[in-house]
Amino acid sequence: MPSPTFAQWAAAVSQRSNRSLAGSRLFPGAAKGFATSNTKGEPFNNSLQSTSETASHEALQAYAWGMTLAQTQEDADFDMSAPLEDITDAPNLTGEEAIGYAAEHMPVLTTLMQRFRREMDFSGIRIATCLILEPKTAVLLRELAAAGAVVGVFCEPDATDQRIADELKREGIAVEANASWNDEEAHQGALRLLDVLQPDIIIDDGGNLARLAIMERPDIASKLIGVAEETTSGIRAFQAMEDEQALPFPVIAVNNSAMKTGFDNAHGTGETCVTTIQRLLGPQTFDGSRVVVVGYGPVGEGFAKRIRSIGASVTICDSNPVAALRAVFDGFAAQDLDQCLPHADMIVSATGVRHTITVNHMRHMREGAVLAVIGGIANELALDELPSFDYHEGAVSTIHIPHGPNLVLLSQGDGVNYTAGGGNPIEIMDFSFAVQASAVAYLLRTRGHLEARLHRLPETCDRNIASVALELRGYSASQAATDNGYHWKLTRFADSREERGKTHTSQ
Ligand SMILES: NC(=O)c1ccc[n+]([C@@H]2O[C@H](COP(=O)([O-])OP(=O)(O)OC[C@H]3O[C@@H](n4cnc5c(N)ncnc54)[C@H](O)[C@@H]3O)[C@@H](O)[C@H]2O)c1
Repeated sequence: MPSPTFAQWAAAVSQRSNRSLAGSRLFPGAAKGFATSNTKGEPFNNSLQSTSETASHEALQAYAWGMTLAQTQEDADFDMSAPLEDITDAPNLTGEEAIGYAAEHMPVLTTLMQRFRREMDFSGIRIATCLILEPKTAVLLRELAAAGAVVGVFCEPDATDQRIADELKREGIAVEANASWNDEEAHQGALRLLDVLQPDIIIDDGGNLARLAIMERPDIASKLIGVAEETTSGIRAFQAMEDEQALPFPVIAVNNSAMKTGFDNAHGTGETCVTTIQRLLGPQTFDGSRVVVVGYGPVGEGFAKRIRSIGASVTICDSNPVAALRAVFDGFAAQDLDQCLPHADMIVSATGVRHTITVNHMRHMREGAVLAVIGGIANELALDELPSFDYHEGAVSTIHIPHGPNLVLLSQGDGVNYTAGGGNPIEIMDFSFAVQASAVAYLLRTRGHLEARLHRLPETCDRNIASVALELRGYSASQAATDNGYHWKLTRFADSREERGKTHTSQ
């Protein structure tokens, strides 16, 4: 069997393993023609170089996906020469196996929690979480419980992985989540968690559990040490409450930490949106395809750079001229959306803004073109204005645009990666949950001293997490000189060496 192309390999491995390709080391395999040493025979340090045009192309593809190249199989996270069937099939593991597998690839969270446990006492602290209930979340819950906290979780039915809910229940964690619940059962489940747990801290998603506490369990809300919020939409809600002076507790904006947004949006989302679309339309779908990416924030950029590396011809449409210019400096064409609609094979919205693609835009797309969302708010595509649109037609459906073409719609216009894909990669959630754990530690450390408003975590938290992540990968940050002798009087006009010396010593 011929060895897979990089596009085929990335699609299969990312979707099957739920691992992050970005940040990993790839052993390309002897057949790929990568050299391990330079022309003088000296080994390359941490990255290989190619011996041929084709191999060089493959190396560039790997780099565009955020991978470095390993010299040996032993040094690598992934071995491109290994059969694809050998890759762990994460969605088909049992609940217990899936949590164990996720834990193996979340060393940053576990290392950080070991440190926190030496520094502070978590025992008896009651933590309610409201997060997507999947294996990675279970690792966070297990870590907090192992540190002595009393932990419980609520999750909406459509975000509940039942194997994980069942497994955590067996382990004695309070679980209020069931994939078969209706809206009212879910509402009652969330209230039950608050009543049973009487939380000191809430780890929240969308501000949903904390806002429920304020509205229906004000006694609990008034006693909270604080809330750690995971998402942009939750922070928006808490900001509105702060503006109306209706926020009764401090909220840590976990979402705004560099270790969350800088990796989740650009890498986790960029990567999984590409590989989910490949899963839906075929691994080679981007090869030779003309793709318009609307929105060049971190999500659009992470997506655009990856699909370009596997053969797409990409045009960027961003309404902010600075973002559009940034795209040009990254080597993309930037145009107004109206200009490129008729020529595109695929239009992908990465804005997070309602009605980015209007019905009129759809009317000007070509017959059979693909329409997808990688941002993710309701009606980013104006499907609510299509009278005949049926929301129950599966991950790939055909829609007819009145007085226009038939289009191929992915994931019913919702974000493709979280509706049709396997969720954010494990290593990316390792960072996000390391930020969550840091937020809990920060709330405990500053208990009683934080004002009831939104707070960013101190930058030192991001730096600590990044240092652990670098070290675990065998890398390190550089140490800068602690005193570089800077003084504002020290200019290029200082008269002489002597003068400069005086300025320096008079500091
Ligand atoms: N799918 C996921 O799993 C996932 C994960 C993280 C973030 N997101 C969401 O993805 C969206 C994008 O994230 P980001 O970090 O790149 O955001 P961002 O705000 O940094 O970038 C969005 C870009 O879109 C541009 N834009 C807005 N409206 C536009 C329009 N009508 N036409 C053209 N350009 C327009 C903006 O100028 C901006 O440059 C957000 O809503 C975010 O919440 C989704």
